[in-house]
Amino acid sequence: MKAYRASLLWFDAAAAQPTPRYEADGLLVVGPAGETPGAVRRVVAVGAYRELAQRYPGVAVEHFPGRLIAPGFIDLHVHYPQTDVIGSPAEGLLPWLEHYTFPHEARFADPAYADEVAEVFLDELLRHGVTTALTFATSHPGSVDVLLGRARTRGLRLVAGKVLQDRHSPDGVRDDTEQGLIDTEALIGRWHGVDRLGYAITPRFAPSCSDAQMRGAGELAACHPSVWIQSHVAENLDEVRWVHELYPHARSYLGVYEGFGLLRERAVYAHCIYLDDTDRALMRDTGAAAAVSPTSNLFLGSGFFDYDRARQSGMRYGLASDVGGGTSFNPFHTMLAAYYVGRASVNGGGTHKQGVSLAPSELWWQHTAGAAHAMGLDGVVGNLAPGCEADWVLLNPQRLPLLARRLGQAETLEEYLFAWVVLADDRVVERVSIAGAPVA
Ligand code: GUN
Ligand code: ZN
Repeated sequence: MKAYRASLLWFDAAAAQPTPRYEADGLLVVGPAGETPGAVRRVVAVGAYRELAQRYPGVAVEHFPGRLIAPGFIDLHVHYPQTDVIGSPAEGLLPWLEHYTFPHEARFADPAYADEVAEVFLDELLRHGVTTALTFATSHPGSVDVLLGRARTRGLRLVAGKVLQDRHSPDGVRDDTEQGLIDTEALIGRWHGVDRLGYAITPRFAPSCSDAQMRGAGELAACHPSVWIQSHVAENLDEVRWVHELYPHARSYLGVYEGFGLLRERAVYAHCIYLDDTDRALMRDTGAAAAVSPTSNLFLGSGFFDYDRARQSGMRYGLASDVGGGTSFNPFHTMLAAYYVGRASVNGGGTHKQGVSLAPSELWWQHTAGAAHAMGLDGVVGNLAPGCEADWVLLNPQRLPLLARRLGQAETLEEYLFAWVVLADDRVVERVSIAGAPVA
């Protein structure tokens, strides 16, 4: 066993609401890796140093004065092949896809290129303290192989999928209806459940998949209940209008996915901006989750996730970068952007509705334990409660003098967490632990 002494942030595993737990002088005790090389270490105990130190005599303690240990962040929705698309401005989603994203993704037909970007992507995640991600690859099956191969070498809990897009897509990224499904099934067999990896069935969005391909995706999802599903829904008004033209008889955009059997636990839908209350109830009842992507929604001018209604509905949601529509891998930037979006809460029709003021502990939860809940990985990652896999970040505020100064004046836990959310960036990430082993 090993133990780490520092300030500690984690979440109450039993609470229905996001409930932060904090120890200014804490101890995190992590279990032995076992016999298998590369095996996962788990949290054995977490709490106050003065209580736990005597319960674990003889366990070597590494001391990090002035630093905070927190759960590794989870990015609920990101596109690894869009790492180099960040910062490409467009009028809106559809021209952005056509002018930048599809031409760029076509380059991932070359596995050597995909491999190079996969390494850059994983380096960026880890530099920012993101230890788990649910990520799109491209429509090329090889783009999944290189990413998951590299993630396996690094011991990461990562979930990825080959994009299905057999229509309304240009040459170079469009796949064949049947072949896309055959490739998906082969990739599930090759990667899902291998070490810490998972596979996600990935219809890009309803406009880019034929009925036959959507039906096939739903059938695969039914055959493989532990596999994830990831897609986009209700992100942009032009997109929503297009889906209504394509599916005039569907009750709503979300209803299209429902009709193909693509709403269930472990189904994560990016954006969810233009949902109505019936859609939100459907999300709640099926256990599907929203990946809220505030930097992307602000950058592409898509709209504002309605935190107020989402909360009232009881649906699952968590935070995501959505790089490259999103502008940053930085979880602190994403949490701050989510805070701004919460404050705004203006949704179409020219009506202004009073926004919500999200507590920083809730923002942090949405990017850790709440994101794990959205993925059906409660008690596995995103928290430091006993039994969780030991994926954590060591944050050093001294690297940012203004942050250190502000933290020193915080009088409550929420004030303390707010200072991190507003002022921190990747410079504070001093160490990242993956399944109990430090990232080299
Ligand atoms: N909708 C369909 N494809 C995409 C994509 O790559 N990014 C975003 N933000 N929305 C999409
Ligand atoms: Zn996306």
